[in-house]
Amino acid sequence: MENNRGTFGSNLGFILAAVGSAVGLGNIWGFPYKMGLNGGFAFLLVYLVLAIFVGLAVMVGELAIGRKTGMSPVAAYRKLSKKFTWMGYMAVIVPFLILCFYFVLGGMVMRYALSYLTAIFGWNTWGVEDVTTFFGTFILNGGQMILWTAIFIVINAFIVAAGVAGGIEKFCKIGMPALFVMLLVVIIYVAVQPGAMDGYKFMFGWNLEPLKTDFLGVLKAAAGQMFFSLSLGMGAIITYGSYLQKKENVQKNAVIIIVCDTLVAIMAGMIVMPACAAFLDGAYGGGPGLLFASMQQVFHNMGYIGNIMGFLFYTLVFIAAISSSMSLLEVITSFKVDQNVAEGKAPGRKKYAIIAAVIIFIFCLPTCLDGLGNGLANGAAIGTPAEILNIDVKGWNCDWLDFYDMLSEGIMMPLGAMVMTFMIGWIWKLDMVVEECEVSGHKFWGKTFFDICYKFITPIGMAFVLYAQVLTFFG
Ligand code: PHE
Repeated sequence: MENNRGTFGSNLGFILAAVGSAVGLGNIWGFPYKMGLNGGFAFLLVYLVLAIFVGLAVMVGELAIGRKTGMSPVAAYRKLSKKFTWMGYMAVIVPFLILCFYFVLGGMVMRYALSYLTAIFGWNTWGVEDVTTFFGTFILNGGQMILWTAIFIVINAFIVAAGVAGGIEKFCKIGMPALFVMLLVVIIYVAVQPGAMDGYKFMFGWNLEPLKTDFLGVLKAAAGQMFFSLSLGMGAIITYGSYLQKKENVQKNAVIIIVCDTLVAIMAGMIVMPACAAFLDGAYGGGPGLLFASMQQVFHNMGYIGNIMGFLFYTLVFIAAISSSMSLLEVITSFKVDQNVAEGKAPGRKKYAIIAAVIIFIFCLPTCLDGLGNGLANGAAIGTPAEILNIDVKGWNCDWLDFYDMLSEGIMMPLGAMVMTFMIGWIWKLDMVVEECEVSGHKFWGKTFFDICYKFITPIGMAFVLYAQVLTFFG
C-alpha cells in the first residue's frame, strides 16, 4: 500500500479520520432538527434500525471495495466492472454537490463560534445579543456569507493539500477527542437546567404515533439522514478504505465508526432537545434554523454563561463540520491524484486540492446569495431555483441549499447504495467482501446476515426510499 497516493499512519488515525468524516453537521445540525420535526423517539427508532440493517452492510461493502482496489471510487468501480464506472463518477459528483452547501454552513458555524468568543470578552460588536434579528440579517447579507464561506474553504484546501497522514489524520487525532469532551461539557450543563427532562422524554419516551400518521415521511427523513451522517452511498468511505492497511479488521472498524457516529448524533440531540425544552418551551420544530436561530435563543436565555456555552458549542460544530468537509474534498482531490499516479505523473495533490476548492467556491455562490430560501421576494441578492424556474414546489424548500441537498442526499446517495449492494448481493457476490475482509486474518462474522442485507433488505429498502423521495420532490 505504500505508494505515492498516500496512506493513513495508523489504524487509530484511520478510525478517527473516518469518524471525523461521519461526525459532522449531519449529526449536530441535521439529526436534532429532523428528529424535532419527525416525532422524536419514532425517528430515533427508525434511524437505529436503518443503521443496523442498512448502514452496517453498506459501510463494510464500501470499505472492502476501497481497500480491495486500493483506489478512489472511479478507478475502483472501473476495476470491479467497466460497466459500473458511472457509479464511480456519481461517487465523485455527490461530494461535489454536498460541498456546494456544506462549505456555506461551515462558514456560518465559524462565524457563530467567533461571535461568541468575542462576546465572552464583552467585545460584542458582532451582534450575538440581537437574538431576534441576527440570523435573519446574517443570511441576507450576501457579502458576509461569501466571506465566511471563503475562509472556511481556504482552511479545508490547506488541510487536504497537506495530505492524508500529514493533514487529515493529524487534524482528526486532536479534533475528535476535543469534540467529545466539549459535547460532554455542554450536555452536563444543559442536563442540570430546570425543565430539561421534557427534552429527554421527547427523545427517549416510547411513542410510535408519528409512524402511524406518516410512516413514509419518517422513513425517508431517517434514511437520508443515515446515509448523510454515515458518509455512505458515495465516495468518502471507499476512498478512506483505499488508504486502510491490509492488516486491519474491516468489520470491526465499520462497527466502531457506526457506533461513534450514532453516539455523537444522540449526544447532539441530548444537547438540543433538552435545551429547547428548558429554554424555548419545548419548541423542537425549528427546522433547518434550529442549530442557528433556536440555539442562539437558547444561549441568550442562559445569560452570560450562554456566551461560553455558545462558544464551546459552535466550536465543536466547527470541528465536526471541517473534519467532514475535508473528507468530501479529499474524494474529489484523490480522483485526480489517482488518475495522475496511474498515468505515471506526479500526484499533484496540492494543485488539485486548490483547483477543486476554487470551482466549488463558485458553485457555493448561489447558496450564499439566495438568503437560504428568502429569495428575491424577501430581499436576497438572487432568486431561489423555484423563483428562477418559476415552479411551485411543495415537498421541499427549493432554495439552492435544498436543491444541492435533494440531488445528493435525496436521490444519488440512496441510488448509489442501492446499486452497490445489489451488485454485491447478486453479481460480485458476498465472497468478494468476505475475501477482502479476511485478508487481515480475521474471520468474517454474520455471513447470512450480510448476505440478506445485500440481496434484499438494502436494495428493497432503498427502492422504497427513492420512491418516497421522488414523490416528495415531483409529486
Ligand atoms: N457525514 C457527514 C455529516 O454528517 C457529511 C458527509 C457526507 C461527509 C458524505 C462525507 C460524505 O455531516
